[in-house]
Amino acid sequence: MNVRNTTQRNQASKTPKTPNASVIEVFPTPIVKFRFPKHEKYFFRDIPKSEDRTPEGWNCSVNSSYPFTGENDPYVPDEVNKRLQRDVMGSIRDVFIENGLPPVEMGAFWYNIYHEEQNQERHDHVSAHANTFLSGVYYNKNATPTTFYPPSTLYRTLRFRGCEGTIIGNATRDTYEAEVNDGDIILFPPYLEHEVKKQTSESMRLTFSFNLTTINPNSIEWITKEY
Ligand SMILES: [Fe+2]
Repeated sequence: MNVRNTTQRNQASKTPKTPNASVIEVFPTPIVKFRFPKHEKYFFRDIPKSEDRTPEGWNCSVNSSYPFTGENDPYVPDEVNKRLQRDVMGSIRDVFIENGLPPVEMGAFWYNIYHEEQNQERHDHVSAHANTFLSGVYYNKNATPTTFYPPSTLYRTLRFRGCEGTIIGNATRDTYEAEVNDGDIILFPPYLEHEVKKQTSESMRLTFSFNLTTINPNSIEWITKEY
């Protein structure tokens, strides 16, 4: 053993050449994830790939009821849709109250059914018609990740190759794939762009999407309403 080198190493570990660096995570983007407690109550049978029900203006192929599931929807009965919407809202209310978040109500609420080769292009939920606070997805059947993109691309004057796994790795991602299972609900800011990649499974992927708007913080209904 080289005694001199060992001593030098010991000294070096006692007095590092540079102080420990820390990262201030400023302007983080919240994605809230929780389990929908009544998930087991909502079982939907597989339906075949339908005629194209892609909403106007969407550049993709998906069977969607956007922005609202109608009373005579061919796949989701009105009673089930209304009950599901109430139950999802009830679970959000519980999470919000537990975490001191402000009162919200449900705006648009719709489903998206994807079969093989179907997808939804990169988009956001910002709208001139509604002041959405958070948007959400309930993954009901055959969940696959939603792919999120960084909130701003203005900082991308260069590519951050080689930062993966470092202390600034999270701030330099190209994309983020939310890991989800059937029964999960995620909430995210409406400005956060996201997409659903082309599906590879023949089984239908069923999600319910929605937008939440804030309501009067003194609303008695928020605390007392039964969902
Ligand atoms: Fe979306």
